[in-house]
Amino acid sequence: MRKILLFAAITMVQWLMAQQQQSPNGEVMLTFALTAEGAPTYRVDYKHKPVIKESRMGFALKNIESFDRGFTVVDTKTTTFDETWQPVWGEESHIRNHYNELAVRLRQKNTGREMLIRFRVYDEGVGFRYEFPRQAELKYFVIKEELTEFAMTGDYKAWWIAGDYDTQEYDYTESRLSQIRTLHDKAVTPNASQTPFSPTGVQTALMMKTDNGLYINLHEAALVDFPCMSLNLDDKKMVFQAWLTPDPRGDKGDIHTPFSTPWRTVMVSDDARNILASRLILNLNEPCALKDTSWIHPIKYVGVWWEMITGKSTWAYTDELLLEPLNKVDYTKLKPNGRHGANNDNVRRYIDFAAKHGFDQVLVEGWNIGWENWHDYDFVTSYPDFDLKALNDYAHSKGIKLMMHHETSGEAGNYERRLSDAYKLMKVYGYDAVKSGYVGDLTPRGEYHYSQWAVGHYLYAIKEAAKHHLMVNAHEAVRPTGLCRTYPNLIGNEAARGTEFEAFGGSKPFHTTILPFTRLQGGPMDYTPGILETQVWYTNPDNKSWARSTLAKQLALYVTMYSPLQMAADLPENYEKFADAFQFIKDVPVDWQKSVYLEAEPGQYITIARKDKHSDDWYIGNTSNENGHSSQLSLSFLDKSKKYEATIYADAANADYEHNPKAYTITKQKVTSKSKLKLRAAKGGGYAIALRVMR
Ligand code: NOJ
Ligand code: CA
Repeated sequence: MRKILLFAAITMVQWLMAQQQQSPNGEVMLTFALTAEGAPTYRVDYKHKPVIKESRMGFALKNIESFDRGFTVVDTKTTTFDETWQPVWGEESHIRNHYNELAVRLRQKNTGREMLIRFRVYDEGVGFRYEFPRQAELKYFVIKEELTEFAMTGDYKAWWIAGDYDTQEYDYTESRLSQIRTLHDKAVTPNASQTPFSPTGVQTALMMKTDNGLYINLHEAALVDFPCMSLNLDDKKMVFQAWLTPDPRGDKGDIHTPFSTPWRTVMVSDDARNILASRLILNLNEPCALKDTSWIHPIKYVGVWWEMITGKSTWAYTDELLLEPLNKVDYTKLKPNGRHGANNDNVRRYIDFAAKHGFDQVLVEGWNIGWENWHDYDFVTSYPDFDLKALNDYAHSKGIKLMMHHETSGEAGNYERRLSDAYKLMKVYGYDAVKSGYVGDLTPRGEYHYSQWAVGHYLYAIKEAAKHHLMVNAHEAVRPTGLCRTYPNLIGNEAARGTEFEAFGGSKPFHTTILPFTRLQGGPMDYTPGILETQVWYTNPDNKSWARSTLAKQLALYVTMYSPLQMAADLPENYEKFADAFQFIKDVPVDWQKSVYLEAEPGQYITIARKDKHSDDWYIGNTSNENGHSSQLSLSFLDKSKKYEATIYADAANADYEHNPKAYTITKQKVTSKSKLKLRAAKGGGYAIALRVMR
């Protein structure tokens, strides 16, 4: 008993010596304290209620004393920061970065080594990172494990995908934290490269909801030169521990001082819309590193793509087996398979379509040799039926650019060696954007898609591209953490389960009601929406897959899934079939002045209104889960002095994603800021509205 009392007294003393910092509006409180053994801990409260209970911090290091205890506080500094910055592109034209900071300098008594923990407290949560100053005793070290914990206060509801070192292309599971272990196996569906690491491992951004209505989001910001973090749940204690992606030796980070880790982020609100509206992740990233950004621009594009994804045509030129190294193969002597999508006539057809309907670019996949072997691409040699110069000239003559494609087949080392030549070739022919991809296990062998080396590779490609004034949209790369603020030529990423899966058996209908809370927190996603022919067998009779979405919801995704790079992913002939609905895709902007989050509940529905960056027009989108959703929208966000014509693209009364996905209505009505709209999204449906100013 006396022991317990003594322990309690010591704990009390420690907490009395705690350092605190609150958010600008006072609602979020961060507390830092050292335990009796000198271990750093933090805790987060929101409106005087615990969000993260006292949680351990630090690192286990290889071969030297760990950074986890024996610390004393050398000094603490508090500062306030308030600045508004203008992103090159975004959900809004001005972003406020307003936080209170607490920086705690620690010294380890035994070793004399120093570590600084920097906390930034925002109205919507907290970011913190570890900083290792240059010091004689610590020039270089190796991380065995990050010990940062996130101690939950209960068995929350969560929307999670399985933790994995190689893929993020999983469907979400909604469950209690305590159910993760039993549901984990089922959540790990097949992928070209995958390495799940623990039965309670999950990925960030992780979205959760407490029983008393708090929304909590865990992620990281500014992932640079460090392994990507997943979370591992101790489901007895309901404590998550940071779980870094290992290198081929099993180590979790080679660190050269001075060094700052990525930020660990905890977002919290009692209103889910605030999580969508938060710019905490972007704000924790460094300002733009590029002096000249005039060459960076949003892109709306079509592509020779869905036809390959659905299996109607092929990336490869021939079905012949190629045993020779690629540079020895004379493709002109091979028998074409007759189904090669990237052929001159077909690409011209897409260029004509793009020009007719006002798109900026045409992506062409399968233009380059190597798809037969899925190995050792050179990224510069085109197939004989793809005339690189003539097609680019033709596109340019119509005001269109082609978009380059670099599938690396996971051979990131090969890509790094060839990247400079590949980018130079793009400049020669007038490309300014590249979609890259990392399907399959990574080489150098043993590296995982989210290891420190791989994270470095993706950023290297972005920085090199910037030198050539090229924009990058990387698929299967590490999940974004707001780096697009620093490198806005990173205009797209996939890093989640995209629309392609609607042709591979489908994704759950609630998928797009979760992604904005999770994957999109780190930056835009090249989700490739716009599949109006949702029943894939009409595109390719051999493919019986179907999108778990109504046609109207496909339109809404251009508003709800923010990206400066938006694809109209369906085939030209499918758009001609639904020409009146296609009009919304033609009209909707991809860059915004302002965004208003009208309704949001993860897993159920999201309704967003956005104002065009270059006009006074507004657009609204709603995406709903398998139960559908009824909205009563107040249009009070509209300019009070203006009248608008609303064009409403909605699910027909008898529509639903399973049995009648393509039944839609298009109606028009005049509205003002005083108007209210009653709308209904069908099961698995949604709606899209264009609000054009009337003159
Ligand atoms: C996977 C990408 O996500 C997809 O968009 C692309 O078409 C294929 N890889 C082939 O590169
Ligand atoms: Ca993919």
